[in-house]
Amino acid sequence: MILVTGGTGFIGSHTSVELLREGFEVLIADNLSNSYADVIDRIEEITGKRPFFERTDLSNSEETDLLFEKYPKIEAIIHFAASKAVGESVEKPLLYYKNNLNSLMNILENMKRHSVKNLVFSSSCTVYGEPDELPVHERSPIKIANSPYGNTKQISEEIIQDVAKVSSEINFISLRYFNPIGAHPSALIGELPLGIPNNLIPYITQTGYGLREALKVFGDDYNTPDGSAIRDYIDVVDLSRAHIISIKRLLNHKNKANFEIFNLGTGTGSSVFEVIRTFEKVCGQKINFKVVGRREGDIEKVWADTRYANEELGWKAEKTLGQSLKTAWDWENYYRKNLEKK
Ligand code: WQD
Repeated sequence: MILVTGGTGFIGSHTSVELLREGFEVLIADNLSNSYADVIDRIEEITGKRPFFERTDLSNSEETDLLFEKYPKIEAIIHFAASKAVGESVEKPLLYYKNNLNSLMNILENMKRHSVKNLVFSSSCTVYGEPDELPVHERSPIKIANSPYGNTKQISEEIIQDVAKVSSEINFISLRYFNPIGAHPSALIGELPLGIPNNLIPYITQTGYGLREALKVFGDDYNTPDGSAIRDYIDVVDLSRAHIISIKRLLNHKNKANFEIFNLGTGTGSSVFEVIRTFEKVCGQKINFKVVGRREGDIEKVWADTRYANEELGWKAEKTLGQSLKTAWDWENYYRKNLEKK
């Protein structure tokens, strides 16, 4: 059984689909603070298999203990559950430190208590801050985090590293995602930000659908070819496959150390204007936008050196930016027309 914490969320739900398709038994634990339980129904619709589901606040040690006692067959964990809105983390730092760090520590304590020996951790390229050199590789320097959210990812990796040092029997992989985008090709699951989207792609698809007046482009005065900021946009299904590969790596004892780190990106940077133009071309939908000032905390450009993940994991991103934008657009349309609670 694989425990997927945060498994009704964006990347967690897509990874649960891939795990079920691979024949794993899946237990999703989620507090539903930023997602809906009916994602479970759609995971079943896609795969024909229903994961176990427990509504759990993992930052609560009693609830987490009960979860592990109830499910003694957990052999590996993929830990997605965390608060992840950069801007909100600046406004409410304690909420982020308490939730993200207590959840991880409760899970690590229960791993030791219940002899669970494998954990894949959902980390982020945000740990690199504004990189000195590009592309960014796994040994690139960690910069001072530019948000409490990013700092919880850095501290989480440090906690894991310290536990790994004294627990040789437990094996960890930290996956540093660049910018996850897109949706499942079935259009039954996708990114569903509550309220006004922080991230670029859901803001674009909601603008395209007519829910938002216009996209604000946060700055066109960066030192980039077209002046807008550059990111490495990685498809959520490609990302999910990397988690399956990582889980198998641990379960089959193919890892070369008990704490490994991998960058998950495409290796290609795309600017905001490139994303807008690609979306309009591939989806046939015009996007109104206006250029405004830079957003506090944004970095100028980042993209991944993917060689280590390619060579060591045997994983490579396959989807193009256009394909990911199309699945995101199909999901937006399917959700608004068929799933949104009227
Ligand atoms: C991308 C680009 C914005 C919105 C963050 C976290 C990262 C991960 C993904 C959680 C930037 C520009 C955006 C808009 C815009 N989060 N933009 N108008 O900030 O690179 O990464 O989200 O796992 O850890 O750091 O992603 O999608 O917010 O922004 O111009 O309305 O789009 O300035 O250049 P970001 P993003």
